[in-house]
Amino acid sequence: MSRTILITGATGTVSTALVDALRGAGVNLRALVRRSSGADGLRERGVEVVVGDLDDARSLPPAFEDVQDVWLLTPNGPRAPENGMNAVWAARRAGAERVVRLSAVGAAHDAPNRSGRLHALSDRETERCGMRWTILRPHWFMQNLLNEAGDIAADGAFALNMAAARIGMVDARDVAECAARVLLDDPDRHHGATYTLTGPRSLTFDEVAGELSLALGRPVRYLPVGDDAKRETLLGCGVPAWIADMLEEYAQAYASGWGDFTTDALTGLLGRPPRTVADFARDHAAAFAPVGGL
Ligand SMILES: NC(=O)c1ccc[n+]([C@@H]2O[C@H](COP(=O)([O-])OP(=O)(O)OC[C@H]3O[C@@H](n4cnc5c(N)ncnc54)[C@H](OP(=O)(O)O)[C@@H]3O)[C@@H](O)[C@H]2O)c1
Repeated sequence: MSRTILITGATGTVSTALVDALRGAGVNLRALVRRSSGADGLRERGVEVVVGDLDDARSLPPAFEDVQDVWLLTPNGPRAPENGMNAVWAARRAGAERVVRLSAVGAAHDAPNRSGRLHALSDRETERCGMRWTILRPHWFMQNLLNEAGDIAADGAFALNMAAARIGMVDARDVAECAARVLLDDPDRHHGATYTLTGPRSLTFDEVAGELSLALGRPVRYLPVGDDAKRETLLGCGVPAWIADMLEEYAQAYASGWGDFTTDALTGLLGRPPRTVADFARDHAAAFAPVGGL
């Protein structure tokens, strides 16, 4: 009988790509979503949709019933460890066999950012969950550049408080493909493994701007700005203060060289090199295009 995989975060960046990577692979896909109304796209792609909220443990049992594998993605925020705990408990109670968890680069109790420290709590819990488990720790997503797409389209420039940071950034679609590989392999194969997933090169944002310029066929510039200026912009766009604080902590860590590395874990899992920023830019050119065309 086919295995059933429960996908959490199913409307988000990584899990949307994961559904694409798992479709047609002979597994049953079930998505946990907070609002049934926003899940038509999932249903159209053949995914069973169950409503539940990781903030509310009582809402979760129906989604985990008869599930063998859980893809566990928690949203950023102070409640992330509680969200993870609720899911792991629901999985245990339902008799699930395996949890594959999305953590984050550098997750550790002494990480210089709150997200890394919160992810470390959930990683420890996952390691003791009593089921088979695998943890993926991706580096900075290239898809974060889409947050700058409006400015790039309008002004040919994007402003970040990353100074001259070098980052081994990774395409979230590659992260999703790694998750799919693990979930489709035998549960014993990756049990107990933690994979740190990066792109092929560690790049500065000047180099990223150069890659975007080449792929888009028009100049794109990186404008380094200070923490206060970036924070003001984020808060002005409605980003919650907790998230703005978290992003500032990451930016400071990256500016000090914390993210300047790559690994070969992704190539090891997929048997091919990771996507480059040039690949990412080409595939998302429309998002960066000025209104009125490419
Ligand atoms: N961005 C990066 O560079 C980076 C790098 C490494 C790791 N990460 C990690 O990646 C994760 C975020 O992944 P992503 O970017 O794919 O997420 P995302 O696009 O922000 O989407 C978050 C998903 O979580 C769902 N969600 C939010 N609150 C929920 C709740 N209470 N119960 C159930 N579902 C809920 C959202 O559903 P709705 O549609 O209902 O909102 C959405 O599907 C975080 O754990 C982050 O630390 C990010």
